[in-house]
Amino acid sequence: MTKFRSPGRVNIIGEHTDYNNGFVLPFAIDKYIEVDVSSSNEFVFVSHTMNETVGLKKYEKLGKWTDYLMGVIWAIEKSGCEVKPVRIDVSSTLPLGAGLSSSAALETAVAYGLNSVMNLNLSKKQIVDVCVRAEREFVGVQCGIMDQFTVVFGKKDHAIFLDTFNLSYEYVPLNLGEYEFALIDSNTKHELSSSEYNKRREECERILKALHKNSFREITYEDLNQLEPALRKRARHVLDENKRVNMAVRALKKSEMFLLGNLLYESHVSLRDLYEVSCEEIDFIVGFLRGRLGILGARIVGGGFGGSVLVFGRKGCIEEAYHELRDRYYKMFGITPELIHIKSDCGVH
Ligand code: ADP
Ligand code: GAL
Repeated sequence: MTKFRSPGRVNIIGEHTDYNNGFVLPFAIDKYIEVDVSSSNEFVFVSHTMNETVGLKKYEKLGKWTDYLMGVIWAIEKSGCEVKPVRIDVSSTLPLGAGLSSSAALETAVAYGLNSVMNLNLSKKQIVDVCVRAEREFVGVQCGIMDQFTVVFGKKDHAIFLDTFNLSYEYVPLNLGEYEFALIDSNTKHELSSSEYNKRREECERILKALHKNSFREITYEDLNQLEPALRKRARHVLDENKRVNMAVRALKKSEMFLLGNLLYESHVSLRDLYEVSCEEIDFIVGFLRGRLGILGARIVGGGFGGSVLVFGRKGCIEEAYHELRDRYYKMFGITPELIHIKSDCGVH
């Protein structure tokens, strides 16, 4: 048995830009999916997290967690390699559905594991491609490339400034001094998240068509006037968010922490009002944090409609704010939110 470990990720800024040829600034975190790969006569997947053991046929799709694993096997075979029957055991310290990309961590840990055990000779970039393909074509979520790229290429103490247009990237040191990032998990995930995600992607396709452009990178603010109001909002978010990512990189390099924090708030407002992927619970958390002493910024992370809020603040202040928030949030929604401390870490290994 050989063990492989893949981290989750958070994205500092650049949300819903990765499938629009835009910029993102994520980092891999110190919460992981671990898989054990061992030889077997049939395909058996075990999730210790789900407390479930499933035996299945090659390419069998069950509409649940096993699809991420079988999807990777399917995509590896599509790339021309053979995958022999295996037993894969999955365990995790990464909360699922919290917007921290447990799905990408699961896919990449499996792909990396199979690649090593079966000597498939896939490069890191090919592993990313296989996992994206598994999620898009087997699982059926039209995701971008950010999650898989980050959890494969992550580097400790660095964020990745990635241009998803040409996949060029730069590691930006996370010199946060007396500040830190933490997450507050809303412990809510609305059912419509994957259907709405795919809907946003379709809207972005319609924007390109309406403006006769091949890529969002060719779109200017002037072009937006030609769009119907609903699509104009979506496009405006993407253009603004790309600018914010570039500003955030500069802010991080120059340790302009207040500017960085403000950019997070601005990103949240845009995701809430223009891209419309937030929800009541998340807005409550961000609203509660805004303007509190020592809290510099906060925003929804990931695909949206629940999951976690990324908070940036002075060390200790986030925890203090969280304790107060917990009771208020419980009174409002009957759910207890969770504080998740995070550090940056390296990619799959
Ligand atoms: P996120 O990627 O933000 O955590 P998703 O809804 O995209 O949320 O992915 C979560 C899904 O990934 C789960 O519903 C499950 O199918 C799968 N998954 C994640 N972690 C595990 C695990 N430890 N065991 C089995 N399946 C998992
Ligand atoms: C995630 C998706 C990413 C990215 C993100 C929104 O769920 O997997 O590719 O699009 O949503 O920025």
